[in-house]
Amino acid sequence: MEIIRTISWMSQVARESRVKARIVGLVPTMGALHQGHFSLIRAAKSECAPVVVSIFVNPKQFGPSEDFQKYPRVFDADRAALENLGVDYLFAPTPGEMYPRGFQTTVAVEGLSEKLEGRSRPGHFQGVTTVVLKLLEIVQPNLAYFGRKDAQQARIIRQMALDLNLGTHIVVRPILREPDGLALSSRNVYLNADERRAATALSRSLNAARMEIMAGERNPAHLLAVLRRVIDAEPAVVLDYAEIVDAETLEPVVSLRGECLILLAAKVGKTRLIDNALIEQDNQTFRVTL
Ligand code: PAJ
Repeated sequence: MEIIRTISWMSQVARESRVKARIVGLVPTMGALHQGHFSLIRAAKSECAPVVVSIFVNPKQFGPSEDFQKYPRVFDADRAALENLGVDYLFAPTPGEMYPRGFQTTVAVEGLSEKLEGRSRPGHFQGVTTVVLKLLEIVQPNLAYFGRKDAQQARIIRQMALDLNLGTHIVVRPILREPDGLALSSRNVYLNADERRAATALSRSLNAARMEIMAGERNPAHLLAVLRRVIDAEPAVVLDYAEIVDAETLEPVVSLRGECLILLAAKVGKTRLIDNALIEQDNQTFRVTL
């Protein structure tokens, strides 16, 4: 695996691959890699060669009171894991390389970025789309891989790729979870033992909503009430929002139809976690995937 630090070398290497008609895959990450990231990388490995993984803790997507400084950085462990997975290139630029003095452009997907996570974290998605557009321009991959763990982020990036005619196909992959249901996240390392136990309330609440849907409940307000009861029973977990939205528009729905998402965010102690479940309608039957 080759480690690449500069944008110019990364674009040249990627360009040479494209000229040889190879299928370039990109997996953007902020490092502190876990099985969720690895699942994206394995998917990329099965469909692309070469595979580029980027590690860049993007300052622009953290708010002033957020965890940019203390975000876990474990470069040596990440590098070893990527080497084992057979990744071809690790692109790890410095903040100065990505945002040199004088940098002044922001990319915003309006509308989709202002709801849900965007309402709680103003400017967050502008930071995400700005860095992801740069990565997509630098590597110009055929395919780029994202996790449904960050469902709103994936939806926004797909819209950006469409709106800006990016030649990259955006692939969205399922959520990887711990055996007790907690969605894998680099931020889970912030949780102490009690918080770690309490954090299962997020997936348990989604599961409770899923059981209701399986039992025939179709009313989003009732489903959210069931979900909230599970969260409220866990004093260490404070819900920020829980909404059932159309998967395309991210607008709240009044009844389940087509593809919907149950999206939620909560604080467990000082740590903010998000989770979601996908609801898919097939005629009269609904499938709910956590
Ligand atoms: P990061 O949080 O490192 O996540 C990188 C990718 O891994 C994202 O697409 C995310 O959805 C996916 N991912 C995280 N946890 C997952 C899980 N449990 N199962 C499946 N996929 C999971 O998301 C970012 O970084 C940044 O915003 C980034 C897109 C890199 C832009 O800076």
